[in-house]
Amino acid sequence: MNAIELLKQDHERLKGLFEELTKTTERGVKKRAELLGKIELELTLHTHIEEDILYPAFKEAGSKEEDVMYYEAKEEHRAVEALVLPDLKATDPATPAFAGRAKVCKEMLEHHIEEEEEEMFPKAQELLGDKLDEIGAQMEQLKQQLKKELTRKAA
Ligand SMILES: [Fe+2]
Ligand SMILES: [Fe+2]
Repeated sequence: MNAIELLKQDHERLKGLFEELTKTTERGVKKRAELLGKIELELTLHTHIEEDILYPAFKEAGSKEEDVMYYEAKEEHRAVEALVLPDLKATDPATPAFAGRAKVCKEMLEHHIEEEEEEMFPKAQELLGDKLDEIGAQMEQLKQQLKKELTRKAA
């Protein structure tokens, strides 16, 4: 599958999960925990294949402007993975604090996705063109492999 199509599918899935999460209430403690677990897995797989495969190919093919985009996107990943998501996980799902943090996490993710889809991916299309099919295949493979490792660890 084309790399950009693959990533856009992930984006839709993640946005859907966050949509569900922000609709939950303090009474839906189990649902919140379940959704958070799914979000964490999807997000880890997604950022991993972007950072390991697409982003470096994009940086390599581009010039200074792409370098900046690359570092900006990585920084956004880091903010979510290292700060916002861990905070959300550490928050009692039976409290309003959880809803507030879930909303911030959702907004950051949506902002990041929008920048990728509006700026980075069109530029990647231009720079990488036909290579995106091969890159997509590599990403798909890495994703399957990682998913196996992560779900085995969790079991
Ligand atoms: Fe990303
Ligand atoms: Fe993405």
